[in-house]
Amino acid sequence: MKKVRNLLEITDFSIEEIDQLIHLALDIIDKPQKYAESCKGKKLATLFYEPSTRTRLSFTAAMMELGGNVLGFSDAAASSVSKGEVVADTVRVVECFADIIAMRHNKEGAPWVASQHISIPVINAGDGGHCHPTQTLTDLLTIYREKGCFENLTIGFCGDLLYGRTVHSLSKAMKRYKGVKFVFISPKELRIPEYLKADILRDGCQFVETENLEEVMPQLDVLYMTRVQKERFDSEEDYNRLKDSFILDLNKLHNAPKDMIILHPLPRVNEIAYDVDCDSRACYFKQVLNGKYIRMALIYTLLKWKSEGVEAKADDFTKGEPCDNPRCISHTEEVCPLYHTTEDGLKHCIYCDKALK
Ligand code: NCD
Repeated sequence: MKKVRNLLEITDFSIEEIDQLIHLALDIIDKPQKYAESCKGKKLATLFYEPSTRTRLSFTAAMMELGGNVLGFSDAAASSVSKGEVVADTVRVVECFADIIAMRHNKEGAPWVASQHISIPVINAGDGGHCHPTQTLTDLLTIYREKGCFENLTIGFCGDLLYGRTVHSLSKAMKRYKGVKFVFISPKELRIPEYLKADILRDGCQFVETENLEEVMPQLDVLYMTRVQKERFDSEEDYNRLKDSFILDLNKLHNAPKDMIILHPLPRVNEIAYDVDCDSRACYFKQVLNGKYIRMALIYTLLKWKSEGVEAKADDFTKGEPCDNPRCISHTEEVCPLYHTTEDGLKHCIYCDKALK
């Protein structure tokens, strides 16, 4: 089977390809009419096994503005999944009806499994607590439009860095740019996973971890707030204890740089007070609109590559022991445990990225 180009994780695209996507999105913003029929006759299937507002609607709006059509489901309970159908079968069926798929799933690695069974492009629209590459494209377009570049920025991630998949993908994207520094602000229990810290160090970037947002505020070019991911917690007690860890309000911004930007993938719960919305640094609603444009650029590009026969690089993996991450798709789908090995010899599950002990 031909391996088409997908977007399963942000690193599937080189920084040059991301740059092309950003410039395509800027051209779409500038000349929407030029693209109004560019996906005429094409269909996007949105397969959403987990709740979503922005991501699904922005995929839908993006395909409509490219002149294409959209089909799919927004609730797994209303699809054959409720009868016990596996992802591999569902996507083989969907491939008969659609040209490209955007999938959100609660199991980590589900879009990767999907991509192994079909020859139409698969876009990961968020898989469990693992990653969310199209939110990252949205974040990157916003940073580019607001700050003009990615190099030498200091980005503070605040909130649930353990389960916040948008943080995982954005840190993987930003560590590829020169001079980028990370400040991870979270309670100890919600620190960013070790494998991501190892990745950052391997790429020669610097990071610090802290529990004090106000102390680090003056250093930040970008403050990326996140909600505590209630649905990923095993215990409600733990969630209740951690849910109010960081609440950004105007008082806390007193020592923030005047040109710092505040991002949030949304939805917010209480981690940004409403009074911050009027501050000129608040960019989270601009971010939503950028999400539509960059998804237009992505759909356009993946379909163009497919029609030109552009192929993905072969995956490099070896078989191993079953993964011990309970949220990994390898526990619910009949798949072989597969691992890729990093330069420092660590084996990571191909589906969910969890490092093998
Ligand atoms: C995020 C997600 O689903 O991971 N939302 C989004 O897609 N914009 C963030 C979140 O749910 O907290």
